[in-house]
Parts: sequence; structure tokens; C-alpha cells
Amino acid sequence: MGLWGGRFQEGSSSMFKQVNDSLPFDRILASQDIRGSIVWSRAIAKAGVLTVDEQQQIETTLNELLSKAEANELDFDASSEEDIHSFIEATLIEKLGDLGRKLHTGRSRNDQVATDFRLWCKEHLQSLKDDLLAIKKSLVLSADNNRDVILPGYTHLQRAQPVRYPHWCLAYVEMLKRDISRLDDLLARMNQCPLGSGALAGTVYAIDRQEIAEQLNFASPCLNSLDAVSDRDYVLELLFCASTSMMHLSRMAEDLIFFNSGEAGFITLGDAVTSGSSLMPQKKNPDALELMRGKCGRVFGSLQALLVTMKGLPLAYNKDMQEDKEGAFDAVNQWHICLCIAAEVVDTIKLDSARCAQAAKQGYANATELADYLVAKGIPFRTAHDISGQIVLAAIEQNKPIENLSLSELQAVSDVIEDDVFAVLELEYLVDKRNILGGTGAKPVFDALDYELKSLKD
Ligand code: ARG
Repeated sequence: MGLWGGRFQEGSSSMFKQVNDSLPFDRILASQDIRGSIVWSRAIAKAGVLTVDEQQQIETTLNELLSKAEANELDFDASSEEDIHSFIEATLIEKLGDLGRKLHTGRSRNDQVATDFRLWCKEHLQSLKDDLLAIKKSLVLSADNNRDVILPGYTHLQRAQPVRYPHWCLAYVEMLKRDISRLDDLLARMNQCPLGSGALAGTVYAIDRQEIAEQLNFASPCLNSLDAVSDRDYVLELLFCASTSMMHLSRMAEDLIFFNSGEAGFITLGDAVTSGSSLMPQKKNPDALELMRGKCGRVFGSLQALLVTMKGLPLAYNKDMQEDKEGAFDAVNQWHICLCIAAEVVDTIKLDSARCAQAAKQGYANATELADYLVAKGIPFRTAHDISGQIVLAAIEQNKPIENLSLSELQAVSDVIEDDVFAVLELEYLVDKRNILGGTGAKPVFDALDYELKSLKD
């Protein structure tokens, strides 16, 4: 008879089943569906639909199914049920006969799926936060282990001004902190329970929705049954969180791929997170990082796909909405994998500090400091800028950094230059002059790093 066979005279075509059935993918929601059913059985028992004894039998059987679900022992493949909701209900009926047929009183798969999916998203928010905290920790520790490494900072992928390596790490730490707070915001917004909204209009049974929400660990019930069964904005928000975080990971991957290139040579990556070439024996490729970058396509795609799916749907539930799941399951899984591999990659980073410093010194990043030095000697800035520019030109002609010119070569351009100029041209001096909150000087960077180290322990 199935779930809705009564008014039908013919069975579904096999092609229709292929397009209609969601059990092949929504089986992931088995434990959420069973937990929702347990709470529902309690609610309808209180409303007088089940006796205490009946409710207990149902709860016991559902608990057995829950253990099986958690042990991955439910046999979905042998089932021809349409979705996880009908599968669980049919399994209950198999075990309890007519008593099992009472559970669906006052409930719809529409409020069930909305509840199950919210529970699933909420549970994943927590584990994704843990993943984000883990990569954040890896970056903080890498920064701590390489406090004094200075490397070039770039704009337009041209060397711009030198920065401390920990400053680079902490830039991504800031992004990760916002990624985490986005999940906290989402949790606060989606923490309402749809169960009890029925198919779209609520239910006639005197259930206590507040209690249902509490038992399922939601902050409160959803306030409008039409909205509760038919919006998926929380899935969209989760996909946006995933997309934004993947974008951050991808930019980090891009930086590291470049740092690891033969041309830059700032870092080397561990064997465990790189791969070789089948043809070129010398190669060690940053595949993990490239995949972090590459997987953005499918994660961003899932966000776009669900937006398009939802945009034309009239209230309330429409079967189009069954398309909400596969993309979200995949995106969350890929995001999780990328966060984990990102942490592993960062843990293997080995910096070549000499190479970093050498690159940071190229590009005449200290020309501004030289002009400021001349200003301190009483020369007007415009003139100082010009003198510094002439010195850069002389250095370029000799293919040297400014500080490798001799004092007499410098004095040939300006006789106010003295021996004390060389300290000003030093890399550390240059970096540590940016001694401002948020800047790359030693003090602000180490203060920020110490704060993050301390927060790892909290
Ligand atoms: N499997 C459906 C989904 O994932 C839930 C069932 C609602 N079906 C229905 N015909 N009202 O959205």
C-alpha cells in the first residue's frame, strides 16, 4: 500500500521512481529522522493519540533503529521506499504492525524533512566550527614557529612591501574567525523547530510545540507553518558560509602554491600532502592546494543551484525542494575535507627564511625609508623623493639592492647621506617601523600572535 497508495490504481513507473525517490541520498538523514519521530511520538501521546504503553513500544523500536542507523546497519538498498521518512515509517510498521501505522498522525513529510535537514545542518555547524578552529590553530602555530621570517608582501603580484610571515598567517586567521562567526550567526537564526507545522497549515492535534522544540534541542518553534515547511534559507546561508570559507582557503592555497614555486622558493611542503609526476621524476606538485582551489567550483555551484531552484517556488512545499540536499551534502563534505587538508598542509610548511629575506629585499622596498631618512636630515620630502629615485636608478643599473651600494656611491647622489643610512635600509628596520595596530611591525604582530596563542588554550 505504501505511503500514499489509496487513491492510486497503478504503481509508479521505474523512470518516475528514479526521478522521484530521494532515499539514495537522504538516507544520510536517518538518525535525525528517527530522533524527530521519537519526539513526535511523545508529543502525540500527550495529545491523546497514543497510550503510554503504545508510545513506549514505538520509542523502544525507534531507539533500536537509531542504534542501527548509527552503526550503519540499516539496509536501504533492499528497500523500494521513496525517501528516508517513508523508509523509517515502513520499518517501524514492519516491526509493530498497526501500532506503527499510528505514528504519522498529524505529521507530514514536509515538516519532517524540514526538521531533519535543520537538525543535520545544526550538527554540521558544530563539526565545521571544529574544523575551522583546527586550521586556525595550525596557522597560529606556524606563525609562532617562524616569528622572525620576513617575506615580500604583494600587490598586483608585484613585490610591494615586506611583511612578517606571522602577519601573513594572521591575515588568514582573521578570515577564519569571521568564517566561524558566520556559522554562529547562522545557528542563532536557524535554531527554530518546524515539527508540528504539518504539510503546510499546522496540525489539529493538541501537541506542545515548545516542548517538541526543546526535546530536539532547538531554541524555539518556527512561528509560521507555511514558512517552516517551505523555506530553505538556512541551507543557502550554510552554502554561502561554505563558499566564502572555500574562497578564503582558495586564496591561501594560491599564495602557498606561489610561495612553493621554483620561482619563489619561500616554502617547501611535506611529502604527505604533495604528489609526483608519472613522467618527470623531479616534480613534487602541490596537489592538495590545487584541489582546495579547484573544489570551489562545485561548492559555489551548489549555492547557485539552490538559489535558482528556490527562486520561482510558490508557497508552500514543492517537490523541487528535494533538490536542496545533494548539493548541500556534497558542499559540506568538500568544505570539511578542504579544511582538514588545509591544516595538514600548513603543518608541513618549512620556510626558507634566507630566500624569503632575499626576495623581500629585492624590488627597492626601502626607497621610501631612504627618502624619510633624507627628510630627517632636513631635506624637503619632494627633493628627498627625487634623490631616493636617483639612487634606485643607480642601484638598478648595477643590478643591486640600495644597501649594497657603497657609502661613496650614495654620497655621489646626496652628500647629506652618512654611515647611519645602512641601519635604515635594513629589512627588519623597515618592517618594524610599521609599528601600528594592524601593521606588520614586530610589536603589533607579536601582540596579535600572543593573543591568538592564548585563545588556543581557552
Ligand atoms: N523527500 C522529500 C524531500 O526531500 C520530502 C517529502 C515530501 N514529499 C511530499 N510529497 N510532500 O523534500
